[in-house]
Amino acid sequence: MTAAPARILETQALTARYGHVQALSAADIHVCAGELVAVLGPNGAGKSTLLRAILGLASTTGTASFHGTPLPRQDPVAVSSRGVVLVPEGRGIFGPMTVSENLQLGAYRLRSDKAEYERRLTRVLALFPRLGERLSQTAGSMSGGEQQMLAIGRALMSDPKILLLDEPSLGLAPRVIAEIMEKLALLRDEGLPILLVEQKAPAALKLAQRAYVLVLGRIVACLDPRDLSSHDDLAKYYFH
Ligand SMILES: Nc1ncnc2c1ncn2[C@@H]1O[C@H](COP(=O)(O)OP(=O)(O)O)[C@@H](O)[C@H]1O
Ligand SMILES: [Mg+2]
Repeated sequence: MTAAPARILETQALTARYGHVQALSAADIHVCAGELVAVLGPNGAGKSTLLRAILGLASTTGTASFHGTPLPRQDPVAVSSRGVVLVPEGRGIFGPMTVSENLQLGAYRLRSDKAEYERRLTRVLALFPRLGERLSQTAGSMSGGEQQMLAIGRALMSDPKILLLDEPSLGLAPRVIAEIMEKLALLRDEGLPILLVEQKAPAALKLAQRAYVLVLGRIVACLDPRDLSSHDDLAKYYFH
């Protein structure tokens, strides 16, 4: 018998509220070594809240564990120090700063370890050569797709142990989405586990090992993307 793959990230009965509004109800999800896991759901389903809850940024009950140890609550720096890193919705890059400066910010904890900085930068620029051509350009002057690449590149500069992505496809053309998804698959294949939150199901389902469906704050299904014969299968969860 082969051992079950190790659960890198796991939530148990993770619940989040904004005041009296419960935006996430008792969510149980997990990401194993080598996996890219998708969380799909319509606008307002609680996808961003789930990521905020994992990071300990929302008012939560239940647990979010990383390698079997609960992640701290209300201490995002401590969470990111453990290697749990978010690429936020809307990308969160600094538009007036250059591409190079944005990437440096991702590695701020390195301080003066120049060799390690160069190693990380080389890896990011190998993955996204277009960023290398634009290092001295301001981030805000780049296309939406390039800005998303920069947001992912900046997260990689912190040497994450798992990457959480909040709707990286938002506002991008299908060709650009496909390119970004390809890069995520490469990262996953290099051994970086990924939790990908998306409203656009088809792009995410192409690369996910598992997909959770989140509707009105509840995980209503956990699917193997290979079992979905058509996207109508998904729609039934959205509109039940
Ligand atoms: N800061 C907030 N204060 C109050 N309600 C919020 C806040 N952020 C999100 N919500 C509500 O929580 C629910 C889930 O939101 P969100 O996690 O942003 O959904 P999604 O990312 O799936 O679009 C929505 O009903 C939204 O209106
Ligand atoms: Mg959201």
